[in-house]
Amino acid sequence: MREKLEQIRKEALQNLADVNADLEEIRVRYLGKKGELTSVLRSMGQLSPEERPKIGQLANEVRESIEQEISRRAAQAKDLLLQAKLKSEKIDVTMPGEEPSVGHLHPLNRVQREMEEIFIGMGFSIAEGPDVELDYYNFQALNIPEGHPARDTQDTFYISDKVLLRSQTSPVQVRVMEKQKPPIRIISPGRVYRSDALDATHSPLFHQMEGLVVDKGITMGDLKGMLETFAKKMFGDSTRIRFRPHHFPFTEPSAEVDVSCFVCGGCGCRVCKGEGWIEILGAGMVHPFVLSNCGIDPEVYSGFAFGMGIERVAMTRYGIDDIRLFTDNDARFLNQF
Ligand code: DAH
Repeated sequence: MREKLEQIRKEALQNLADVNADLEEIRVRYLGKKGELTSVLRSMGQLSPEERPKIGQLANEVRESIEQEISRRAAQAKDLLLQAKLKSEKIDVTMPGEEPSVGHLHPLNRVQREMEEIFIGMGFSIAEGPDVELDYYNFQALNIPEGHPARDTQDTFYISDKVLLRSQTSPVQVRVMEKQKPPIRIISPGRVYRSDALDATHSPLFHQMEGLVVDKGITMGDLKGMLETFAKKMFGDSTRIRFRPHHFPFTEPSAEVDVSCFVCGGCGCRVCKGEGWIEILGAGMVHPFVLSNCGIDPEVYSGFAFGMGIERVAMTRYGIDDIRLFTDNDARFLNQF
C-alpha cells in the first residue's frame, strides 16, 4: 500500500508537471470521490492496527503534496495569464496621444470677421436684413424701377412677382434708414443671390458687405478717407486706392473702387492681370431720391454708401483664383487657412 501511495504521488506530480495539464481533471482523478487516492484510503480497513496510522499519515502527506502542487500550478497559470494580458494590453503612457483634429473658421467667415472688426473700429455697427426680400427694397426704393436696365445685371431668383432672393445687400440701407434717423453708420454683411451659372468668377450665391453713413455734411472725402483706412488695414499699409467714375442708380456720383495690387504693388503682375489694380467695391453718395424715399431730407442730410463682395476681398487677399473653392469643401484647400 505504501508503494501504491508513492506511485500515486509520483504519477500525479508527473502529470502536473505538464504545462498543458488540466488541473481540475487531475484533481478529480486522484483526489475526487472516486479518485485513486480515495480508493486506497477506503481499503485501509484491511491494514493492521499498527500500520493504519502510518499509512494514514503517508496518505495525508500524498494528498497534501498533490493539493499543494495543484494550487501552485493554478496560481502559476493565473499569473501567466495575467502576464500575457499585461503584455498584450500594454499602454505606453509616454506615447504622444492622438490629437483630435480641431476645425477652424472658414476663410470666408474669417475675412468677414476681419472686415467687421475694421469697420467696428471706425464706429460702425452691424445691421441685418432678410435674404428673402421684397422687390421694393431690392430694386424700387433703390431707384431701380421695373424695366430699368440695372435689373438685367442683377437677375435673381423670384419667389413671386414681388418677392425675390436679394441680389445685393443694398436693400438693408433702405430698411435701416426707414427705422433709424441720422446719424447712421452701419455695415451689413450677408448672402446675396444671382441667377448666374457657376464658374471661376461667378456664383449664384455669394456674400457682400454693405456700408452706409448718413449725417449732416457727409462728403465724398469722408468716403475716400474711410475706404483708404479700410484698404490699408485689410491689405497692408502700402495699399493705395483708386476711384473710377461709374454708375449706380442709388448713388450720385458713383464710383468703382480699386486697390493697388498687393502682390506687385501696382506695376502689374499675373494676380492683377497686368493692371496693377484690383476692383473690390462699388460706392457713391446716396442718391437724394433714396434718402427721401426713406423719409430723410436730402436738403439737410447727405450720406455715402458702398458695397463689396466678401469673396472678392478674400480672393484678393489670399490670391485665390476660383470662387468655387470656397464651397467645394476640399480639406486640402480649407486647411491652408
Ligand atoms: N449693390 C451694388 C452691387 O451689388 C454694389 C454697390 C455699389 C453698393 C454702390 C453700394 C453702392 O452701396 O453705393 O453691384
